[in-house]
Amino acid sequence: MKSMPVREARKEIDGAVITVCPMKEEHVPAVSLLEQAAFSMPWSAQDFMDMVEREGALYLVALHEGRPIGVCGVIDACGDGDISNVAVAETWRGKGVGRMFVAALVEWGKEIGICNYTLEVRVSNKAAIRLYESLGFQSEGIRPGFYEKPREDALIMWKRQAEDGQITMSEI
Ligand SMILES: CC(C)(COP(=O)(O)OP(=O)(O)OC[C@H]1O[C@@H](n2cnc3c(N)ncnc32)[C@H](O)[C@@H]1OP(=O)(O)O)[C@@H](O)C(=O)NCCC(=O)NCCS
Repeated sequence: MKSMPVREARKEIDGAVITVCPMKEEHVPAVSLLEQAAFSMPWSAQDFMDMVEREGALYLVALHEGRPIGVCGVIDACGDGDISNVAVAETWRGKGVGRMFVAALVEWGKEIGICNYTLEVRVSNKAAIRLYESLGFQSEGIRPGFYEKPREDALIMWKRQAEDGQITMSEI
């Protein structure tokens, strides 16, 4: 059994209670549909199932009435966490769900040993870039032609721990 933070965050958004918690096997079919709706080269349900069990992977879901409305994940590589699969269901976008669960991911990722966080994002994806910047991520470079369908450069962003060793999130 992999070690994972047993955590839950709750927030009221537009009068609805949104819960963020680690992804479980039962969430995978709905998460896979979210992924297909959000990305041109989506992960398969099996890819997400693998993340439920994989040591060093922390995947979170945002739930409304028990149903996944968002997903995000991080995979630890020697203290550097690679964030991916950040997606919110279209009808729930722009309400603070993305900020809520990426903040939780950064905070809870510390508990599996992650110190610094990195991610790639399409250079045209202004909404996502602003979300990450608002959480303290900074652009550190470009990966030319990283994405397919359509071909596009990736912006590489990092959120590194401070000199005092702390990486904090005040959003959750
Ligand atoms: C990117 C995404 C996850 C953001 O989730 P969200 O729940 O809509 O984001 P939030 O409502 O928490 O917004 C947080 C911040 O992001 C920025 N943002 C969100 N939507 C935005 C938009 N349409 N235009 C500009 N900035 C936007 C804003 O800075 C916002 O803060 P503010 O409301 O205080 O201005 C969501 O748009 C999505 O699923 N997109 C499709 C998949 C995708 O592109 N994933 C990212 C891959 S790297």
